[in-house]
Amino acid sequence: LPSIILCSSPPPSMVRITWTPVSSPKLGKQPEDFKFGRILGEGSYSTVMKHISLNCVSVKILEKMHIRKENKAHCVTRERDIMSSLDHPFIVKLYFTFQDVKRLYFGISYARNGELLKYIRKIGSFDETCTRFYSAEIVCALQYLHSKGIIHRDLKPENILLNEDMHIQITDFGTAKQLSSDSTQNRANSFVGTAEYVSPELLTQKSACKSSDLWGLGCIIYQLVAGLPPFRAGNDYLKFQKIIKLEYEFPDKFFPNAKDLVEQLLCLDPSNRLGCEEMGGYNPLRAHFFFEAITWENLHLQTPPKLT
Ligand code: ADE
Repeated sequence: LPSIILCSSPPPSMVRITWTPVSSPKLGKQPEDFKFGRILGEGSYSTVMKHISLNCVSVKILEKMHIRKENKAHCVTRERDIMSSLDHPFIVKLYFTFQDVKRLYFGISYARNGELLKYIRKIGSFDETCTRFYSAEIVCALQYLHSKGIIHRDLKPENILLNEDMHIQITDFGTAKQLSSDSTQNRANSFVGTAEYVSPELLTQKSACKSSDLWGLGCIIYQLVAGLPPFRAGNDYLKFQKIIKLEYEFPDKFFPNAKDLVEQLLCLDPSNRLGCEEMGGYNPLRAHFFFEAITWENLHLQTPPKLT
């Protein structure tokens, strides 16, 4: 039978249903524990499925053979370690991990409403209130990650999920990086990301920093307003060319305050981006006039504006 490692915070319904104390002899011995429902998402190394009996849990399944063949074992370990260190309302939680002979399983938050990308496609673009609200939630999540020295490195609307209450849940820490705390490390060196959202420093210097996530934030805010990401072309090479030349345009009716914010995020020099340490950190970003109507302290307790 698979062995289970229970993480620090069991999901709300879990304590009651199955995984009582860590030492329970029943732990992981119920056939229902290993029954999965529909596929929620598929990546290059994993499939995420709904857990059958645990309402708020989905299970990310990784094939050991595939991980070994692609030399990605360190990424999986890193993903588990980073996720288990995170506890924030806007970030998916890791509840438990287990494995059998062929696969690794991560029990993570089930975000009932799926990817933010689905909503951008469904409604075309967000109104100003929704853009402001969801951008603010992403800012909160990034502030938390960066305060812990973690860079996500693949921020995009597919990795921003929505829970039952339509609050965001950032997912996919498979390419995240924990900067070492004992030294002054502030850059990470291996290539990761998705063409449309990749930062210029990753393309020109092959290194990412916290500010690279702020570039991703700028691309996402642009996309919420315009419906499409800022750097578009027929292939990845041409997208990269545009990114390193900062070649993009705003549609005429782009909300003026959002435009100013995006311009302050999409800077070629990472140290000029609003929100980065050189620019004074997150306070100046939160104080940008696009966010004037935001009450930052309790966003996750507020009712999100309706997406229409
Ligand atoms: N798609 C990918 N991961 C998911 C999750 N944790 N919840 C819902 N849908 C998902």
